[in-house]
Parts: sequence; structure tokens; C-alpha cells
Amino acid sequence: MNITFRSGKSEDAQTCGAICYQAFNAIANQHNFPPDFPDRETAVGLLSQLLARDDIYSVVAESNSRIVGSNFLWENNLIAGVGPITVDPTVQNSSIGRQLMENVLRRARDRRFVGIRLLQSAYHNRSLSLYTKLGFDAQEPLSNIQGPVIREQIPGHAVRQATTGDIAACNKLCTRVHGHDRGPELLEAIKQSTATVVEHGGRITGYATMIGFFGHAVGENNEDLKALIAAATEFAGPGFIVPTRNSQLLRWCLDKGLRVNQPMTLMTIGLYNQPAVVFLPSIIY
Ligand SMILES: CC(C)(COP(=O)(O)OP(=O)(O)OC[C@H]1O[C@@H](n2cnc3c(N)ncnc32)[C@H](O)[C@@H]1OP(=O)(O)O)[C@@H](O)C(=O)NCCC(=O)NCCS
Repeated sequence: MNITFRSGKSEDAQTCGAICYQAFNAIANQHNFPPDFPDRETAVGLLSQLLARDDIYSVVAESNSRIVGSNFLWENNLIAGVGPITVDPTVQNSSIGRQLMENVLRRARDRRFVGIRLLQSAYHNRSLSLYTKLGFDAQEPLSNIQGPVIREQIPGHAVRQATTGDIAACNKLCTRVHGHDRGPELLEAIKQSTATVVEHGGRITGYATMIGFFGHAVGENNEDLKALIAAATEFAGPGFIVPTRNSQLLRWCLDKGLRVNQPMTLMTIGLYNQPAVVFLPSIIY
């Protein structure tokens, strides 16, 4: 098969979105897991947004002018994030995914990102094998969880909407946890009014850009994360993502009636600091 690659364009959203929905749906069905996207429109909507952003690099694979897959590189942080990568189910397992990955890895290296990250669907043998062969190391087992909102207050931990005045404190906390900040994502979330902070003892001890698939959070300890989670008015998309080794937090979520949707693995190339304190990753990293 002769495959060519080009940058994505806004007009590709319908076709790439349809492939994204079909690819995730097919693999989820094969393994009896819930799909990442409830319907085609949701996938098209997400890809329309990604294709419109100039801080996200996109690559589209074509076979005889027919789109057969796409991949994305999030360039809005010190660390680059990969995904979603999807290949038309009718042509999977014929090296298109490998080439789409190699394309964004080349881009990340050319742009001198100190690290590259992604979240892998842990039940998918093929993506695990592909990413491992391409140099990604598995760092952290994760659980994507969903369920009814909790609507509780954790004593002594007040949660409020984040403002731009909180950015410096939040970035400092993120740097303590991850070794780098995620300031641009936080600023975007503040603009979208999805970001929250938790205060304890008169200072900011945690923040979340959103409690959901595309949001990340950090805290000084689990009480901070619990406060942010318990205050959320929704768990956006297929839910939020908890490091499985944080058993105390995961157990608390399960005790609150939340359920595990699917296991995932955080995989990285380059800079990775074992997080010093507690965190929730986003689906991108
Ligand atoms: C994941 C995905 C993008 C991969 O694309 P693809 O075109 O099917 O994969 P490729 O053929 O390029 O690469 C698969 C590689 O894994 C290897 N592989 C596949 N199954 C394997 C297994 N069980 N054990 C070991 N290796 C395996 C293949 O041999 C190939 O390796 P190679 O490149 O060294 O020859 C595609 O399958 C897809 O769209 N899946 C659904 C959506 C999805 O899961 N996205 C990723 C979310 S993390």
C-alpha cells in the first residue's frame, strides 16, 4: 500500500473524526470495553477543535487520496503529548500507525521537546507493542473512572474557581509534583472557566484544569485531590484518570460509587520525573 502523509486541515475533521470513532469503537467492542467516544459526532467535534488549533500539530495518512488515519502532537507545553492516533480499521496492522507515530516523534525531536508522553489503552496489545518498539517506556498504570458526581466538602479544604492570579502558585505546585509546570493548559482552562483550586491552611494546595478526560490535577496530598474531585459538577467525557498505584485515592473513589471504565498506561520518552506528590493525568499526559 502506498501511503502519503500531509498536515491536517479543518476540512479533514469529518473523515478523520469518523475514522477516530470507528477505530476506538472497533477495538473497544473486540475487548468488551465501553467506547472512548459515544458517537461519531463527538469524535468529529474533538478532531475539528484539534485541527483548528495552531499549538497542535496534525498529520493525516492517505492511500490513493483517501484518508486512512491521523495523529496529533500537542505542542502547548514543555512536554509534547501524542494522540489521538487512529487508523481506519480496514487497513490496520499494515504499518500506517507506525508511520503516523514516527512522523510526530520526528516533529517532537526537531522541535527539541525534552519529553514526549501519551496514554495507552492498556487492553490494546498492538498499541502497547508499537509504542514500546518506538522507544516509549511504561511509567504508570492508570484507571479511567466515571460515575455520579460526589458533591461533598472535604473538611478544611475549600474549593473555588481558579483565576489568573492563582497561576504562579499552581505552576509552583505542578513543578513540585512533575518537575515542570503546565501553565499554558492551566491558563486555557481558566479562560474556559473549568479550572478550580483547593485551599488549605490559607494557601493553594491543589488545582485541576478540569475533572475529566482532558483535565489534569495536582495536589500536595490525597485530601486535596479528593476535595477537587468531590466539588466537580461533572466528570467530563469518559471520566477522569487516577494513577492505579494511588490505592488510597482509587479506593475512596470506588467507595463513593465510581466505577472503573478501562485501564491505561502512561508512557514516556525523555524527561520523566516520578511525581513527588499526588496527581491526575489528562488523556494526553
Ligand atoms: C493503535 C493503531 C493506531 C496502530 O496502528 P496500525 O496501523 O494498526 O499498527 P502498525 O501496523 O503500524 O503497527 C503495529 C505494530 O505492533 C506489532 N504488533 C501488533 N500486535 C502485536 C502483539 N500482540 N505483540 C507484539 N507486537 C504486535 C506489529 O507487528 C507492528 O510492529 P512493527 O511496526 O514493528 O511491524 C491502530 O491499531 C488503531 O487505530 N487502533 C484503534 C485506536 C487506538 O487504539 N488508538 C491508540 C490508543 S492508545
